[in-house]
Amino acid sequence: MSYSLEYLESLARSYALEAAKQEKLRNKALAAEYYRKAASIFEKILRIHPDHSLANVYRDLAKGYRRRAKQLEEQCKILATGPTSSESAEEFEVEELILKERPSTKFEDIVGLEEAKQAIIEAIIYPAKRPDLFPLGWPRGILLFGPPGCGKTMLATAVAGELDAYFIHVDAAAIMSKWLGDAEKNVAKIFKKARQLYIQNAKPVIIFIDEVDSLLGIYSNEVGGEARVRTQFLKEMDGIQDKLLKYQVYVIGATNKPWRLDAAFIRRFQKRIYIPPPDLRAREELFKHYCRSLKISPDVDFKKLAELTDGYSASDIRDIVTEAHLRTVRELFKSNNIYGDPRPISMKDFLESIKHRKPSITKEMLKLYESWSEKFKAL
Ligand SMILES: Nc1ncnc2c1ncn2[C@@H]1O[C@H](COP(=O)(O)OP(=O)(O)O)[C@@H](O)[C@H]1O
Ligand SMILES: [Mg+2]
Repeated sequence: MSYSLEYLESLARSYALEAAKQEKLRNKALAAEYYRKAASIFEKILRIHPDHSLANVYRDLAKGYRRRAKQLEEQCKILATGPTSSESAEEFEVEELILKERPSTKFEDIVGLEEAKQAIIEAIIYPAKRPDLFPLGWPRGILLFGPPGCGKTMLATAVAGELDAYFIHVDAAAIMSKWLGDAEKNVAKIFKKARQLYIQNAKPVIIFIDEVDSLLGIYSNEVGGEARVRTQFLKEMDGIQDKLLKYQVYVIGATNKPWRLDAAFIRRFQKRIYIPPPDLRAREELFKHYCRSLKISPDVDFKKLAELTDGYSASDIRDIVTEAHLRTVRELFKSNNIYGDPRPISMKDFLESIKHRKPSITKEMLKLYESWSEKFKAL
C-alpha cells in the first residue's frame, strides 16, 4: 500500500506530538513507543523520498526520537529495578554549559574577517566595557551566518576570550534531539540563569547558541516541541532587549543555514554579520598562519597555494596543512631514523594534499549566502 507524502508527514507529526504529550504525563513507556513510531515513519519517508528537501531534518528527527525512546525505556528500567531514580541525574543543569575558564582564543588568532571582527567589537566589546557611552541602548542579539568552517564558532569564542564575561555555550543541534519534550523549559532555564548571573555578579553574560537554526526544527512542518521552543526563544529574546532593564545579557547565534530562519527570528538579532569564506589574501595568510610552527621548504609559494584554493574554507586550509605535514611525518616513520626530524614540507606535499581534498564551499552555496546577506545583513 502506498500513502501520500503529506499523509505520512502528518502521521509522523501526530505520533511525535502524542509522544511528547505522554512524556509530559510521565507515561514513559508509552511515550517511547510513540517516539519509535514517529521515527519509523520519518525513516519510511526518507526511504521513499531520499531527495526530500527536508531529508536532513527528518533524519535528525528520526535519530533524535529513537535516542529519546531508548532513554525513556532505560529510565523505566531503572525505576523498576530500584530506588536510584535517574530523574534527578537526567535533570538539565545550565551550570554544565557555563564555561569555567576563559577561552584562550583571541581576535588576533582569527585570520582575516576584519569587517566582521570590527562589527563584533562595536556591537559587544565596547558596550560591555563602557555601557555609559551607549545611553540609547544597544542590541543584544547578534547573528553570525556563513558557510561552515570559516570562523563563526571561533569568533564567538574569541568574544569570551576578550571579555571578562560569563559564557554559556549551547550547541542547539546537539541538544534539540536530547531535550525533545523539555526543550522549551530548558531554553527558559538558560535565560533565567543568565539574568541571575548578571544580577549577582554585574558581569556581562553571553549566551552562544551554535547552529541556532536547529531551535526552529522544521519551521514549515512543525513537529512535536519545536513550535513551542521557537515561541519561548522569541519571548526570551524580547526579554533581554528590554530597554529599561539594563541587563547585559547577549545572545550570539551562529548558523550555516540562515535561510531556515523566519522573519520573527531574524528580527530578534539586530546585528547580522556575514562570515564569508577566506578571500585570496586571507587564504595566503591562513597558510602562513598554520605553517608558522612548521619547517617549510624554500620552494613553497604561499601565493600560489592561495590561488589554488578558491572555494576552500579556513578549516579546509588547516586540514591541507595538517595533511602536508603528515606526509613528512609518515616518511620519517617509514625510514629507519624515527627519532630524527621530518624533512621540511615541500610545495609538492601541499599540492598533493590539495589534490586529495575537495573545496567544501561550492559556487552555488556561495551565491545563496551572498544573496541572503544582501537581503538581511545588518551591521
Ligand atoms: N578565520 C579563521 N582563522 C583561523 N582559523 C580558522 C578561521 N576560521 C576557521 N578556522 C579554523 O577552522 C576551525 C573551524 O572553524 P569554526 O569557527 O568552527 O567554523 P564555523 O563555526 O564557521 O563552522 C577552527 O577551529 C579553526 O581551526
Ligand atoms: Mg561552528
